[in-house]
Order: sequence, then C-alpha cells, then structure tokens
Amino acid sequence: MKKLPHALHTITLRLNGIERSGECEPRTLLSDFLRYRLGATGVHVGCEHGVCGACTVTIDGVAQRSCLTLAVTGEGRDVNTVEGLAPAGKKLSALQLAFRRHHALQCGFCTPGILMSCADFLNRVPDPSETQVREMLSGHLCRCTGYSNIVAAILEAAGIPDVETTPESAATLETAASPEVEAQRSSNSADV
Ligand code: FES
Ligand code: FES
Repeated sequence: MKKLPHALHTITLRLNGIERSGECEPRTLLSDFLRYRLGATGVHVGCEHGVCGACTVTIDGVAQRSCLTLAVTGEGRDVNTVEGLAPAGKKLSALQLAFRRHHALQCGFCTPGILMSCADFLNRVPDPSETQVREMLSGHLCRCTGYSNIVAAILEAAGIPDVETTPESAATLETAASPEVEAQRSSNSADV
C-alpha cells in the first residue's frame, strides 16, 4: 500500500524572546520540535509520558510538559526553555546560582525541567513555604541528587530578583550562602 506523505506545518513561536520558525508534522511533540528543529537541547526528554518532568518548559509563562504538548499548539506562543534563564553572555539567574551554591544537581538531567517549573512557581508564589516547594517538586523526578539540596536552593532563591546584569550583585549572590547552608555544606564535606 502506498504510504501517504505527512503534511508539514510551519510553526512560528517566540523561543526565549526570539521569534523562531520550523516545520513539523501534526503529531510532532513540542519537546522534539524544540530540540531537533530549533536546537533547544536544554529541553531534556526522559519518560515521554508526562511523569518525570524533565521536559518542562514555560508556555506563556506557565510550566508545562513539552512531551505532552503538540508542537502545532505552540504557534504564536511564548515558549521559554532553560537556555532563556541565562542567555549567552549573561550571568546565571539567581535561581541557577542558588542551585550551584547548594549542589542541587549531580548529573543535571532533571535540572532544566525543575528550573523551568521554579521559574513559573516563584513568579506565582514569591515567598513559598518548604511544604509548597516540596509540593511543586513532586511533579519532578530526580534520581541522583536527593531533594534536600534542591529545596534549600529554591527557598534561598525565593524573593531574590534576577541580578545577572550587574557583576557586583552576582558576586554578592555567589557568596551569600546563609549560616545554615554553610553548616550543611560542612556536614556534606565531612560525610564524603
Ligand atoms: Fe516529559 Fe518525562 S519527558 S514528563
Ligand atoms: Fe541527576 Fe536529578 S540531578 S536526575
């Protein structure tokens, strides 16, 4: 039987603030479109079933699983990926700096999705409790870091505006770990 050619659609969206276009089939997932058509390989794909959260991006500011979203529905939308948190030539965001300070990642596979959920979450809940942070994180699987350091990083970053445009303030953030964090760090190094 003759195979019918797949119809291709041209999708135009704003990826991290820049208008981008690419062709895709009607069945193409947004995660694949972002990675393979637009080169946003910070979008990680784990389960492809909406379970692990690795593929999370924001669409019009709302965190969503890109593996459960068809690329064609991205037409005209604002899509942000982890690449947009620290565009080339800029400093890391306050959240990324906090993750680095707290050792809130090991292999980093889950990290882009967690960061994008946090970006949405901290916009909506700028001063979250630990319980709220843990509820938000329940939508993400991390297999190698454990969640304590991730929670600590998010709590520390909450309420800190992004300061990547000023080297002085970024330097301040680099060294601004609280006494509790320093104590945790010492105990971590003692455990190794
Ligand atoms: Fe999308 Fe796991 S790859 S939730
Ligand atoms: Fe490895 Fe989370 S840092 S899975």
